[in-house]
Amino acid sequence: MTRKFYITTPIYYVNARPHIGHAYTTIACDTIARRQRLLGADTFFLTGTDEHGQKIERAAQAADKTPQQYADEISAEFRNLWKRMGISNDDFIRTTEERHIKRVQELFRRIRDNGYIYKGTYTGQYCVSDELYVDGAQPGDPCPTCGRITETVHEENYFFKLSAFQDKLLELYANPDFIRPETRRNEVISFVRSGLRDLSISRSTFSWGIPVPDDPKHVIYVWLDALANYLTAIGYGASHAGAQAAFKKYWPADVHMIGKEIVRFHCVYWPAFLLAAGLPLPKAIVAHGWLLFEESKMSKSRGNIVRTETILDVLGADALRYFLLREVVFGQDGSFSFDALVQRYNSDLANGLGNLASRTLTMINRYFKGEVPYPSPSASKLPGDEAIAETARKTIREFGVLFDQFHFSRALETAWGSWRRSTNTSSRTSHGRSAKNKTTQAGRGWPPCSTPQRRLYALRPRWRIRSCPMQRPKSGSRWDSATSRSLLSPISHGGSCRWAPNSATSTRFSRAPTRARSKGCNRWRISKEVRQWKNRKSRRHRPPALLPP
Ligand code: MSP
Repeated sequence: MTRKFYITTPIYYVNARPHIGHAYTTIACDTIARRQRLLGADTFFLTGTDEHGQKIERAAQAADKTPQQYADEISAEFRNLWKRMGISNDDFIRTTEERHIKRVQELFRRIRDNGYIYKGTYTGQYCVSDELYVDGAQPGDPCPTCGRITETVHEENYFFKLSAFQDKLLELYANPDFIRPETRRNEVISFVRSGLRDLSISRSTFSWGIPVPDDPKHVIYVWLDALANYLTAIGYGASHAGAQAAFKKYWPADVHMIGKEIVRFHCVYWPAFLLAAGLPLPKAIVAHGWLLFEESKMSKSRGNIVRTETILDVLGADALRYFLLREVVFGQDGSFSFDALVQRYNSDLANGLGNLASRTLTMINRYFKGEVPYPSPSASKLPGDEAIAETARKTIREFGVLFDQFHFSRALETAWGSWRRSTNTSSRTSHGRSAKNKTTQAGRGWPPCSTPQRRLYALRPRWRIRSCPMQRPKSGSRWDSATSRSLLSPISHGGSCRWAPNSATSTRFSRAPTRARSKGCNRWRISKEVRQWKNRKSRRHRPPALLPP
């Protein structure tokens, strides 16, 4: 039977447009989902938007729109951005969809029927920005997560018996794979050990939410509403058989990927809700750090937002994916800088990978009229061939182990080490005398097996390793030529070609003096080598496959 794999991103608040921090989480999940598909797993990758609650209601008011209008607009921005980035999600759930609303009410009923919900009165502090009840805070105190001043809430609420789950949760955390990385697991354990209080799970002083079943003057607490998306999107509580079967197949989730600021909701409240409903628990909750810009977490109010579109316009999605996964140690905070992005692009993609690609393509063109014939069985092997193949196999193994433990940066470093060795090999081969001689000896073009031909075959696994973090289409078809071209062309940084900030760029970025607007900035400087190759291709040869299958 095919193994299933279910991975989720957090669903994003629609109070503001997406930025590169949101893209970071989505890219990480997309990369994992793509790898799982390549490994043959029946994969379901879910993302979506979180559209209820006081935070969204206020944002809509400030924009002079209804909450639904506002949510429609911002949700569409997320959806369109993921599309533009080639994100391979299988579904996109919105918490204002009918299917979600009905199924959340069903979940609420089930928890209530199991005896874990009661009515009471809540008096305490609340952070609207994080939609968080802040235990023990006094009026005027800041939120421990975001630092904004909390508001006093006094209202009739439904409460969830969270305190009943303390011991069960601690038992659950004994499994080291349930919360990753270890630092987050330790934080959660000490939070739960310090004692859990029952949690208010409804609000009654505003109306932008899902009505509590049988008591519509309350709306369900936005975090219960939002967390439930992981169930509702795959068919929990659905009445038709197809959706029920999907739920049976995919639940429990294999990975909930989240940012570190929402660990408590996912690692304490979420498993407690599931236990109360008698549902199986997710297998792993993996928290990454923040992407910082100018030393703090990106936020609209701080004005330090970096828009993904800016980078897509200039470098394309693959380069951004590579940069984020290579540059930031997953699990830790990492600073985003345009300088680092350009440097990585030039050194790893344009000069490293681009050079190897360019040399390989040149060899294919020069020796094989643009196609690599399959080596004949009678072809003699050279001693170096097996060594290359073995290094590639070893790299694939090491890459897989690191990747599956979410060490993306180290996995890519390993792959790139192998690339560097390949570059040396291809360089020796393409310029070596033996390669040329053997090819010409065998007549022009199609020797039964020549050194360059073997070398090209030996290099093929390297292409496959590298393709994993990139956005090959789900169908497994090849990169489009535009992507490959962009990887072959270095961009210059400084000199005549600087970044071209556009309307999507952050205000800080566009004001920075070193990033002055300059005409033609985001045009590629195609390397001489590639230009020559392109000319030759159009004059003499059939176009070569840009990636081996
Ligand atoms: N709506 C809730 C999540 C509900 S999930 C049931 C929420 N939304 S959010 O839009 O504020 O943030 C969602 C996620 O975006 C974060 O958990 C994190 O994964 C990602 N990020 C937002 N800003 C980020 C950075 N600056 N850096 C890295 N990730 C960031 O919380």
